[in-house]
Amino acid sequence: MRKIQFILLATVAAMALTTMAQQMPVYLNADAPIEQRIEDALARMTLDEKIAVIHAQSKFSSPGVKRLGMPDFWTDDGPHGVRPDVLWDEWEQAGQTNDSCVAFPALTCLAATWNPMLAQLYGRSLGEEARYRGKDMILGPGVNINRTPLNGRNFEYMGEDPLLASRMVVPYVQGLQSTGTAACVKHFCLNNDEEYRHQVNVIVSDRAMREIYLPAFEAAVKQGHTWGIMGSYNLYKDQHCCQNQYTLNQILKGDWQYDGVVVSDWGGTHDTEQAVINGLDMEFGSWTDGLAWGADNAYDAYHMALPYKQMIQEGKLSTRELDEKVRRVLRLFFRTTMNDNRTRGFLCSEAHYDAALKIAQEGIVLLQNKQGVLPIDLNHTKRVLVVGENAIKMMTVGGGSSSLKAQHEILPLDGLKTRLAQAGIEVDYARGYVGDTTGNYNGVTTGQTLVDNRPASELIAEAVAKAKGADYVVIFGGLNKSDYQDAEGHDRKSMALPYGQDALVEALARVNKHVVFVNISGNPSALPWRDKVPAIVQGWFIGSEAGTALASVLVGDVNPSGKLPYTWPNSLNDVGAHALNTYPGIWRDGHKIIDEEYAEGIYVGYRWADKHKTRPAFAFGHGLSYTTFALSNLRLDKSQVNADGTITATITVKNTGKRTGAEVIQLYVSDQNSVVDMPVKELRGFQKVTLQPGESRDVSITIGGRAFQYWDEQHNGWTTSIGKRTMLIGNASDHLPLKATFTVTPE
Ligand code: BGC
Repeated sequence: MRKIQFILLATVAAMALTTMAQQMPVYLNADAPIEQRIEDALARMTLDEKIAVIHAQSKFSSPGVKRLGMPDFWTDDGPHGVRPDVLWDEWEQAGQTNDSCVAFPALTCLAATWNPMLAQLYGRSLGEEARYRGKDMILGPGVNINRTPLNGRNFEYMGEDPLLASRMVVPYVQGLQSTGTAACVKHFCLNNDEEYRHQVNVIVSDRAMREIYLPAFEAAVKQGHTWGIMGSYNLYKDQHCCQNQYTLNQILKGDWQYDGVVVSDWGGTHDTEQAVINGLDMEFGSWTDGLAWGADNAYDAYHMALPYKQMIQEGKLSTRELDEKVRRVLRLFFRTTMNDNRTRGFLCSEAHYDAALKIAQEGIVLLQNKQGVLPIDLNHTKRVLVVGENAIKMMTVGGGSSSLKAQHEILPLDGLKTRLAQAGIEVDYARGYVGDTTGNYNGVTTGQTLVDNRPASELIAEAVAKAKGADYVVIFGGLNKSDYQDAEGHDRKSMALPYGQDALVEALARVNKHVVFVNISGNPSALPWRDKVPAIVQGWFIGSEAGTALASVLVGDVNPSGKLPYTWPNSLNDVGAHALNTYPGIWRDGHKIIDEEYAEGIYVGYRWADKHKTRPAFAFGHGLSYTTFALSNLRLDKSQVNADGTITATITVKNTGKRTGAEVIQLYVSDQNSVVDMPVKELRGFQKVTLQPGESRDVSITIGGRAFQYWDEQHNGWTTSIGKRTMLIGNASDHLPLKATFTVTPE
């Protein structure tokens, strides 16, 4: 009897303690290791609390666990600045007055810097803006490979090469997360075009997937230690990538041992059971499932909300997966919202503008400069004519989810006017063409009045008349962020420049010898008049400091050092996806799914151009400078290297011109003796170096590991290709004058 009393008392005491413990805020044991805190918090959470933290409660937030002292979790786009706040449950603006931001250059421009230190600065600066704005996760960066120049979202990504994208994504993630803001690397995976993005089922070889499409994600996970990954809308092996057994469970969480959360793209979840079992951790959405619109406050109806709870209660799903998801979400909380040491952040600081300017200046690519027409000769110039809508159009608004409310955006015309006025040079302007005169996205309006109803003939005639007496004609053309251009949701319909720009350029080139075409875009376009104009500059979408950055390069205050992060083909016929006619795919299942076979395999970008010996308009890695560099004296530290060893190449680089400048030394390896089919060459290392006039320096690049391997489909793993290789070093994929051979030997 006494024993029973004792047990009863002990049980009551234990229950009281448990209740107390459950109610004790989790931050009380803040000194304990994170994994211990996770288990502690998990043990205290109710089923409802667990279900609540794995799905959205508003357009961009999910709830924390308030009872346990864990605040709401806020995400926001990404990746070029912190998106302005929308209403709790609507896509329209919340109307805040403190959500303007610095617009950083688009990620294509960042990739074009080939400077990982700038990616770190980018991530850190963006993270500080996010912290000030109370955001815990930025939905970016994007690292989907540029497979076709038609993809409407290439501007948000880091080009065509897996090594370049890997080297740039890691410091971006590290910089961002150093502020206590989670990165959410997107869109995992195979989201390489926008048209039909919810229906595309990608069919791709394992080798192409592992060698081309996944390395940047893998680097973000293994080296960058990203805390978030966003599943993509498309399908792979007939499963949507937000609920995909192969990509999420096997590759990401299995092979790569990822310990962060998988976030669904907004509305990318389609089925409770698949999402639960196949590795999704947090469901976010547009409305109910992103495809069906209109249900108010639909969060309870999310696949991983009440339907999931019900399946657990009915015994159809166990709580094992739920606990696993909640562990990951709690880990995210302890890394972000529950991290008392993270920076407070600040918005629109001078340092952030400086960072945006520096990245823009280093990313601008001088594609062509015949007779050294650039930089603009400030001493002998009286009048510069600026032409084109892109000289006066804001580009930070539009393009889809990356659209921003920039505190300021310096337009190209204004930037050039300001800089040229300092040299006493007159700047005239002619519209030249009219493109898209609207300017709003989700309620953010540019406030610009760009309407001009004059016919094209009149616009061209005006520009031609003004061009006749000008010392230079600088045309700002290219694409914009409107639908079917560089914008989310659709792809471009062709590679041609829109709005009759070709006719305009031809007409101007006929009357003026100093025409400079500045192409504003995230994608390459066909340039049929390329040989008729002396200078072409790739100006990207470069955000708040666009005008200042472009002007500084055009007048030579800054010596351009950007290099193309993708191949610039002459036409779609020179792109594997189009030459093989595999884009956009073949419909099936009553127009529900479109199978898109990546039949070109690993031959994407320069790998395709090399294989088929097509000469692109501008090669991957190409970019000119106002100075010249001599590359010489290639030395290898060894002639044979073990499969698990490294080899270092050293060359001497000399600035042989008259200006300080930076050059990107690029190292490619050609492995033509392999047992498997190999690209003619592949980028395996690079380094950017800045040199004063006359200065020379030794640059060393070390390669190893994956640089010697290929994905072996038979053994389902990485295998070293043994044998002789040629190393090729230069400053563009089509200019690699230094060569040496070495041999990879078995381990
Ligand atoms: C886009 C994502 C974005 C999300 C939230 C989706 O439509 O694909 O990149 O982060 O919306 O805005």
